Amino acid sequence: MNKVSELAIDYLQRYNCQVSEDYKTLLREACNLNPPPHGKAWYGKLYRQYSRDAEWFANSLITNATEEGNGAREVWQFANHIGNQQFAELVRSHAIDESRHSKMFVALLNMIFPTKIEADFRTELQALSPEYYHHKHPSIEPVSAEQVLDEKRVMDEIIQINLLEIRALILQLLLRPVLQAYATPENLPRVTRMSDLLIYDETKHIEYSGYCIGKYMEQGDACGGRSLRTWVREMMIYRQKTVNEMFLEDVELESSVGKTVLTTQ
Ligand SMILES: [Fe+2]
Ligand SMILES: [Fe+2]
Repeated sequence: MNKVSELAIDYLQRYNCQVSEDYKTLLREACNLNPPPHGKAWYGKLYRQYSRDAEWFANSLITNATEEGNGAREVWQFANHIGNQQFAELVRSHAIDESRHSKMFVALLNMIFPTKIEADFRTELQALSPEYYHHKHPSIEPVSAEQVLDEKRVMDEIIQINLLEIRALILQLLLRPVLQAYATPENLPRVTRMSDLLIYDETKHIEYSGYCIGKYMEQGDACGGRSLRTWVREMMIYRQKTVNEMFLEDVELESSVGKTVLTTQ
């Protein structure tokens, strides 16, 4: 049993998320075959060690505000190229959440380090989020038939999103006690509430992407296509491997330990 898949499944259950047994089986298998480094004790230790330095920690919050904002823009773009409109809607909703996360990281920075940052820089930080909301977002222009991605390309992206959102959840769980340690007694309840919301949102991102993976497999079954299921299984295993490799390259840079978003290649 791998700690990362078990934690993800535990959080999915905790928030009453609907994912198929098939998806859970594949996730367990992918994590057993390619154990994610972000579930290892050394990573948690390294993160806690770095985060004791207040300047490093403040920079890490800024990096996350930046990456969540960029992630929101990328995910929004991706949604425009998905043919399945139910999946596209789910991906757009994900982009709106990540746009909010960017703002939440800036709010955490402001709460935890209220005096250390200059006013001008605070304004710049606000602009890191693309400010997507359900009631206000870029117009959804239909793309031409040639620009719609092949279904397997879409599923490859969604599988990567799924595995990276699991990583984002693990990072939020590591971040939580550090945030609480930096908080003052006055802002501790607010900081804790924000951490709860971030953990909830990341779990919901695992849920929706896991749902899409499950639906795709069902669709294969309906056409008698056992091979689709085999393709998804192999892709989950392969992508867990590439996510791990990406992560290990990233971890060599001190500034990237604790980054909640890893950019897919
Ligand atoms: Fe996020
Ligand atoms: Fe997320």
